[in-house]
Amino acid sequence: MSESDPSYSLVILTKVDPERELPADIFLKIDQKFIRFRGKGDVIGAEKFDDFMHHGLEGIYVKDDDIMTFLDWVTFVQNEEVEEIMAEVGEDTKEIAIGAAKIKEKVYETFFEQELKDEVVEQLQDQVADFVSTIKKQPFSQQTIAALTKKNATIADHSVNVANIAVYLAMVMGQGHQYVLENVYLGAILHDLGKAKSGLTESGVGDMRFSSQAMQNHPELSVQVIRKSKGVPDPVYKIILQHHEQWNGYGYPAGLEGDAIYEMAQIVSIANFFDNILFENRDKPRDEAWEIALKRVDLDKGRHWNPKFFPRVLEALSKSKPQ
Ligand SMILES: [Fe+2]
Ligand SMILES: [Fe+2]
Repeated sequence: MSESDPSYSLVILTKVDPERELPADIFLKIDQKFIRFRGKGDVIGAEKFDDFMHHGLEGIYVKDDDIMTFLDWVTFVQNEEVEEIMAEVGEDTKEIAIGAAKIKEKVYETFFEQELKDEVVEQLQDQVADFVSTIKKQPFSQQTIAALTKKNATIADHSVNVANIAVYLAMVMGQGHQYVLENVYLGAILHDLGKAKSGLTESGVGDMRFSSQAMQNHPELSVQVIRKSKGVPDPVYKIILQHHEQWNGYGYPAGLEGDAIYEMAQIVSIANFFDNILFENRDKPRDEAWEIALKRVDLDKGRHWNPKFFPRVLEALSKSKPQ
C-alpha cells in the first residue's frame, strides 16, 4: 500500500447498530484490501448483519479520518437505546437497560473468539446468571414459575433448568439481544406447561413414535394456555410450539424441517433434550450424568438440530460440566 493510501481503523461489528444511518463510509477487509461496503447515510441492515455474525466477521473498517466521528456516533446510539428502554418501562430500570447493552456487547465479543476458552465460558456463565436473576424478578416469570411449581414441581424444575441452559447456548451462539434472550427464557419456562396441564409426568426423551397423543399435543396445549395471558411475544409461542420439531422433519407436532424451524426453538430443543437425559440419570453423580447427556446430544445431533450449532454447542456444554 502506498503512503497516500488512507489508513483504516477496526470497529467491532457489534458496536454498530445495523438499523441506523451510518455517519461515515464503512469498509470490509477482503484479501488484505479494503472494499467500501456502505456509504455515509446507508444502513447495514439486520439481515446482512446476521449474515456477518454467522460468518464470524469480526469488524468493519472506517477511515482513520472518520474514526472519532464514528465512535461518537456509537456512543450516541447506545445512550439513545438506553433512554428508549427507560421511556418504555420507567426510570428505575436504567440499570437493567444499561445491563442489557453490556450483555449484548460481551456476548458478541466472546462469540468472535474462535475457540471457547475456559475464561470465555466463565464470562458467559456470569452473564447468564446476571440475566436470569434480572428476568426472574419480572412479575410474569415469577408468577409462571410459582404456578408451575404448584402444579408439578418436577416439570417446574425441568423448565427452569432448560431456561438456564437455553439462554447460555443462545449466548454461546452469539445471540446477545435482550429481547431475543428474554423470549428464549420465557419460551423455555413455558415449554411444557401443556404437559403439566394434562397431568403428564416427565421426563425422558423416549421414542416419540410410541408416545401418546397427549404427549404429541402438549406443545399446542401449552400455547393454548398462554394465549389467555396478553402480551406474550410471538417468538415465545414459536419456541413452545416447535420445541419437539426436528431438523430432519421427523419431530412433532407439525413435522417442520430444517430452516422452517425457528432457530431459538432449536436451542431450547437442545436444552430440553439435554436436561431430560440428566433427569433420566439423576441417580448417578452429576458429572457422570453430564457425560452421558453430552454423548446423547452428540449421537442425535445430525437428526435433531441445525448443524451450524455444532461442535460449538457441545463444546460449551462440555466446558460447563459441574465438577
Ligand atoms: Fe416438551
Ligand atoms: Fe421439556
